[in-house]
Amino acid sequence: MVLLQNIFSTQDEAAAAIAKAGISVFAWKGESLKDYWWCTKKALDFGNGKGPTLIVDDGGDATLMVHKGVACEKNPAILKKDYSKEGEDFKQLMLLLKETYNEDKTFWTSRVKEIKGVSEETTTGVHRLYQMLERKELLFPAINVNDSVTKSKFDNLYGCRESLADGIKRATGVMVAGKVVVVCGYGDVGKGCCQSMRGFGARVIVTEIDPICALQAAMEGYEVKTVEDTLGVADIYVTATGNRDIITLEHMQKMKDQAIVCNIGHFDNEIQVDRLNAAKVKKVAIKPQVDKYAFANHEIYLLAEGRLVNLGCAEGHPSFVMSSSFTNQTLAQIELWTKPHKTGVYTLPKELDEEVARLHLSKLGVKLTRLTDAQVEYIGVKKEGPFKPAHYRY
Ligand SMILES: NC(=O)c1ccc[n+]([C@@H]2O[C@H](COP(=O)([O-])OP(=O)(O)OC[C@H]3O[C@@H](n4cnc5c(N)ncnc54)[C@H](O)[C@@H]3O)[C@@H](O)[C@H]2O)c1
Repeated sequence: MVLLQNIFSTQDEAAAAIAKAGISVFAWKGESLKDYWWCTKKALDFGNGKGPTLIVDDGGDATLMVHKGVACEKNPAILKKDYSKEGEDFKQLMLLLKETYNEDKTFWTSRVKEIKGVSEETTTGVHRLYQMLERKELLFPAINVNDSVTKSKFDNLYGCRESLADGIKRATGVMVAGKVVVVCGYGDVGKGCCQSMRGFGARVIVTEIDPICALQAAMEGYEVKTVEDTLGVADIYVTATGNRDIITLEHMQKMKDQAIVCNIGHFDNEIQVDRLNAAKVKKVAIKPQVDKYAFANHEIYLLAEGRLVNLGCAEGHPSFVMSSSFTNQTLAQIELWTKPHKTGVYTLPKELDEEVARLHLSKLGVKLTRLTDAQVEYIGVKKEGPFKPAHYRY
């Protein structure tokens, strides 16, 4: 087993303990993007043309590296393109792939043959998988762990409900009560963030593009506006969309003095950090992962350089909710290893989803009601489940 982590999310003490147990770890807190891709390649390279047979991914970067690597070996012209305007992250990936290709022309094609599949943790990574499948680029089977109910409706929602506040508080110590907090995106993560901020007494405003989610937010009692409507008024901005350019440089130029800006979505392109850094704005590092940007008439604070605030400024979700996510990951890995799958993207069967929940009940002292035979017949389910049809939304 080999481990790697996002650039700010490694807890060095935990990484050291794992390494001491004999597991290879390629991660430390505060890696550069160049280091990060180097670590990713190391995690995928066991030497002698060998690599992993299964991947557990979170955000799809390991999967992306393998796929891009294979694509470059099939068509090396890809490596000659100019990636300087594609963002630092992608630029560094392509630079490393070029270096790899120059050293070994079959590095990725030899390794990809061994890969039986990947299980993907998060919304954004799953989104990438379906895009690759649609473009007929996916090279091995994938299990979408995110859309197990016991993942997205727990980790994304209840996990972020706790770890968002943890990140903001550890970074700034700000009093949330009474503040105006804007949460961009009212999906599973956004819903948890809104509940959390409201729980502290914040006045929460939601931004959304989807009428269903916007209506849900309104029915929960949140105001739904655009980011532009909130400029000069809001104190804290949280992006949770999985989309790019949600908070632009122009937005930051018009924010209230001392506004705090952070992202809890998977990638750092939700906030235009590259443009902010390129603009002539004085940047003062208050402490690691807390930067003040001084515009002419106001200052704002950017947390975790626009990367996941709950991982960069705190320690992510509590382990209980991660246990639910990782139980799904473990079951997905067993599925991939023990059963043949055609290349495609799959979800775990509902029986297993219910089993993940069942395994966590006793810890919380939850007592389930058992169906009687008459009830089983009346609602038409099996006594042991599954209790809901596949289309049920929870
Ligand atoms: N930090 C963490 O611990 C953590 C945990 C789980 C998921 N994630 C990540 O958080 C992100 C969101 O995940 P999710 O499960 O809530 O996804 P989701 O698809 O359920 O929700 C995202 C929402 O954002 C909305 N949206 C998209 N573009 C928008 C825009 N321009 N303005 C306003 N709203 C917009 C969508 O309509 C959707 O409702 C993903 O990147 C996911 O990978 C992070």
